[in-house]
Amino acid sequence: MSTQKKSERPEKITTQTVVEMKRNGEKISMLTAYDYTMAGIIDEAGVEVILVGDSASNVMAGHDTTIPMTMDHMIYHTSCVVRGVERALVIADLPFMSYQVTAKEALISAGRMMKEAGAHAVKLEGGKSICSTVRRIVDAGIPVMGHLGLTPQSIYKFGTYKVRAKEEQEADQLLEDAKALEEAGVFSIVLEKIPADLAKKVTDSVSVPTIGIGAGPQCDGQVLVIHDMLGLNKDFSPRFLRRYEDLHSKMTDAVTHYIKDVKSGDFPNVDEQYN
Ligand code: KIV
Repeated sequence: MSTQKKSERPEKITTQTVVEMKRNGEKISMLTAYDYTMAGIIDEAGVEVILVGDSASNVMAGHDTTIPMTMDHMIYHTSCVVRGVERALVIADLPFMSYQVTAKEALISAGRMMKEAGAHAVKLEGGKSICSTVRRIVDAGIPVMGHLGLTPQSIYKFGTYKVRAKEEQEADQLLEDAKALEEAGVFSIVLEKIPADLAKKVTDSVSVPTIGIGAGPQCDGQVLVIHDMLGLNKDFSPRFLRRYEDLHSKMTDAVTHYIKDVKSGDFPNVDEQYN
């Protein structure tokens, strides 16, 4: 049992909190996390939403796409994150082919993510075509976040990671998809790599918050992959990315320093040994 008094514990962020934040014109901050330690740091810093993204496939496992992620991988990462978090809302991506085949399978996957990993909500990629699935999951009491625009699980259909919905037809379709997702019951929608004007139009057209990544400043919130914003990936620099640190250089310096100290016999010193 926690020794912390109830009044001292931070108020938990819920799906209602983020919807209210949109209503109040307060921007929502969201970052990804995949492990206990990183999740604890991000949560303590005060981010409202933590996404256990299937981008774990890229930044944790070294794959080129998110396609190889499985339910077991995502459940492992999500349970690690949940143990590190006290306040933030934890949303887990449902991986490729865990929700596309039937609504029943999708509900089973979403249920596992809640029961086995302790997620507070799940995220699914897609528009109108997945609305009946979204409805089924929401009806079971599981909050769903949508994801439109550059949806990485469809990379082999798109063939490129370039900006989506620049043409009128795709832009109109995306707006319709956002409205359909809202109607189906999502509490929020990620908009990835679409023109800023379109993101504003979507944001103005739905009552649920939009969270942008490469979608301009008019979304209700922003999300970045934690490895990218901390500068751990030195070779990934899309236009939308702002690097808040250069941890790649800092970690390389620290490790180089350690190697030097081990080789020279400087580490460990007398204060770093047991007598
Ligand atoms: O998997 C992920 O990290 C995501 C974000 C980029 C939105 O879906």
